[in-house]
Amino acid sequence: MKILVSGGLGYIGSHTVVELLEKDIEVVIIDNLYNAQKETHDNITKIANKPSTFIQMDATDYDGLKALCQLHHFDGIIHFAGYKAVGESVAKPLMYYYNNLLSTINLARVATEENIQKFIFSSSATVYGDGTSPFSEDMALLERTNPYGETKAMSERILSDASKANPNFNVTLLRYFNPVGAHMSGLIGEVPNGIPNNLMPYVTQVAKGIREKLSVFGNDYPTIDGTGVRDYIHVVDLAKGHVAALLSDKKGVNIYNLGTGKGTSVLELINAFMKENNLNIPYQIVDRRPGDIAISYANAEKALKELQWEAKLTIEDMVRDAWHFEKNVR
Ligand code: WQD
Repeated sequence: MKILVSGGLGYIGSHTVVELLEKDIEVVIIDNLYNAQKETHDNITKIANKPSTFIQMDATDYDGLKALCQLHHFDGIIHFAGYKAVGESVAKPLMYYYNNLLSTINLARVATEENIQKFIFSSSATVYGDGTSPFSEDMALLERTNPYGETKAMSERILSDASKANPNFNVTLLRYFNPVGAHMSGLIGEVPNGIPNNLMPYVTQVAKGIREKLSVFGNDYPTIDGTGVRDYIHVVDLAKGHVAALLSDKKGVNIYNLGTGKGTSVLELINAFMKENNLNIPYQIVDRRPGDIAISYANAEKALKELQWEAKLTIEDMVRDAWHFEKNVR
């Protein structure tokens, strides 16, 4: 089996490529290196001890994609490439709509033209909007609060319509909850550009002394300790979810949540990090962050039932591996 992975040197893409190679699946990676490093390809090779092909290409480049697919005859495409910063998407909506939608359209177009029958898309729990957890795949999607989330919902729609019109074009939409952690080798992980927006990279940078203290955004939510609750999932579990989706023979459009089904509060996560790594994380409580919801966690039963996939790694594994990577990087 030969698979094209767009954004394959990014955070989730790189972990997925490792899992694909470990299953002896042939991989061609494209990445424009906007938010990824070329050295990640060497680290993927080191971990998997198997080769893969890397081509620097932008997924908005239709002609490049077309030539690549005609050369390789892929069995499937896993599409990770995309901008992903919520705040930036509010400031630069057109950049987000142009890049995230055009890359999805071009890859789907080439896939249908070249008879590539499997397409897996990196979606997000953000499509559920401010709904009530646990989120199930059949719930009606509510309004998104930012252009980034909107590009995920729109891409889902574009791919679903393309699949309905092309019976051989089978689409799996994977809705990620909060991916954290890193490969246990410490060789690949998340390297945010500038000041991290997400909780875990902020925590690891405070632990390393890069940032002075963590701001906890609100402690007056209706949750166990007042801080926001999320479904954190180890990125290696998430990566394995893609392999399960790829090997499934389900046809048409299939949607799966990739989460653990368990919620963890900000303070619970900080405490787990401090305990597991024997470190102190100074923090202060500040106002809520606009656009945040109180509670987000998955109903993860569908992926278990239909893909025989479930997240196995614990919060302790996540905080340990995140810190192991942060210590190694830079
Ligand atoms: C988690 C919790 C914060 C930072 C976002 C996007 C989503 C997806 C993943 C990806 C919340 C709190 C955070 C900090 C804090 N996008 N927090 N201090 O908001 O669930 O999801 O990232 O590519 O689309 O919306 O994740 O990690 O930012 O926040 O207290 O410095 O941590 O309020 O409760 P979120 P997060």
